Amino acid sequence: MGNSSRFILALMVVMLLQNSVFSLSTKSTTTTISTDRLALLSLKAHVNSDLLATNWSSATSVCNWIGVSCGFRHQRVTALNLFAMNLSGTLPPHLGNLSFLAWLNIGNNSFHGSLPIELANLRRLKSISFSNNNFNGEIPSWFDSFTKLQYLSLDGNNFTCVIPSSLCSLSKLESLVLSENNLEGQIPVSIGNLSSVKSLYLNNNQLSGSIPSSIFNISSLLELNLISNRIFGSIPLNISSLKRIGFTFNNLSGHLPSDMFDHHKGFI
Ligand SMILES: *[C@@H]1O[C@H](CO)[C@@H](O)[C@H](O)[C@H]1NC(C)=O
Ligand SMILES: *[C@@H]1O[C@H](CO)[C@@H](O)[C@H](O)[C@H]1NC(C)=O
Ligand SMILES: *[C@@H]1O[C@H](CO)[C@@H](O)[C@H](O)[C@H]1NC(C)=O
Ligand SMILES: *[C@@H]1O[C@H](CO)[C@@H](O)[C@H](O)[C@H]1NC(C)=O
Ligand SMILES: *[C@@H]1O[C@H](CO)[C@@H](O)[C@H](O)[C@H]1NC(C)=O
Ligand SMILES: *[C@@H]1O[C@H](CO)[C@@H](O)[C@H](O)[C@H]1NC(C)=O
Ligand SMILES: *[C@@H]1O[C@H](CO)[C@@H](O)[C@H](O)[C@H]1NC(C)=O
Ligand SMILES: *[C@@H]1O[C@H](CO)[C@@H](O)[C@H](O)[C@H]1NC(C)=O
Ligand SMILES: *[C@@H]1O[C@H](CO)[C@@H](O)[C@H](O)[C@H]1NC(C)=O
Repeated sequence: MGNSSRFILALMVVMLLQNSVFSLSTKSTTTTISTDRLALLSLKAHVNSDLLATNWSSATSVCNWIGVSCGFRHQRVTALNLFAMNLSGTLPPHLGNLSFLAWLNIGNNSFHGSLPIELANLRRLKSISFSNNNFNGEIPSWFDSFTKLQYLSLDGNNFTCVIPSSLCSLSKLESLVLSENNLEGQIPVSIGNLSSVKSLYLNNNQLSGSIPSSIFNISSLLELNLISNRIFGSIPLNISSLKRIGFTFNNLSGHLPSDMFDHHKGFI
């Protein structure tokens, strides 16, 4: 290859790179309130609801739609609260375009299917509730993209397989509720990485194995509910800092420290 063709090749590579950087940056800067509108219209098309059919009207701004809140500064959708609105349907991939979304609550409806991977783009999310729907499949490993997440509720669905250890990298997570699913396998040892977690609800699943001692290394932990699983082994001694604890309907042996009962307020 001659010097000039090498130069041309190099030039082409540079141009290609510039092009892709350019298209990446335009992609991230051109999302607007119209992008949010398209995402919500896609959701509307995927659910069966008379309320959304009439209220989510093209004649009004999305910021006036029921369940939708927009941020003051950017006028973008920051919260979607569709709790207990009798919605049935699936979540469309378009929801992943709500790039300013921080709060997402679709609890107590009849959504089904699995969670689209495009949701992993919602990196501003602080709070997610998918409680009491009919979602199935595995808890996705890409939940670790939600690095700002403080609150996660997936209870009352039909999530199967193991608790992905990637979930345990969410260092800001304060509440993790996975109760009443069909989760199995062992509680991952990396659960000890949830260094901000206060409430851990893993009850009513088919979790097995022993309780990883790393759980008791979490100094923020106040509530631990493991009721109705298949966990076996002995109860660790160092649990005095917990305020509420639930171990029944497992196969655990041992005695809770007597001071446990002085300040515990809840389930056993
Ligand atoms: C939609 O619901 C909101 C909140 O209840 C209400 O303020 C708004 O007027 C409704 N819009 C329409 C078009 O019905
Ligand atoms: C819930 O939605 C279904 C189907 O959309 C409808 O048939 C039913 O009447 C709704 N129930 C209530 C309480 O609104
Ligand atoms: C939003 O998401 C969908 C599906 O993930 C995609 O096809 C679409 O082009 C995206 N962008 C906009 C601006 O709607
Ligand atoms: C939400 O669902 C749970 C579980 O089915 C139920 O106990 C609770 O009363 C429901 N809440 C509302 C407001 O519908
Ligand atoms: C939950 O998922 C499992 C495995 O996919 C399936 O066999 C079972 O019927 C589902 N249960 C419900 C209540 O949907
Ligand atoms: C948990 O933390 C340890 C030490 O910081 C790290 O090596 C490991 O990769 C983490 N595991 C997960 C699943 O984030
Ligand atoms: C508990 O934390 C300490 C200090 O960070 C670490 O050395 C130890 O290995 C941890 N124990 C478990 C069981 O994770
Ligand atoms: C028990 O936990 C407390 C608080 O996290 C800690 O200070 C103490 O060193 C632990 N004791 C043992 C024996 O691990
Ligand atoms: C409970 O544990 C004991 C002792 O480890 C074992 O013999 C027994 O089979 C276990 N029972 C169940 C239901 O797993």
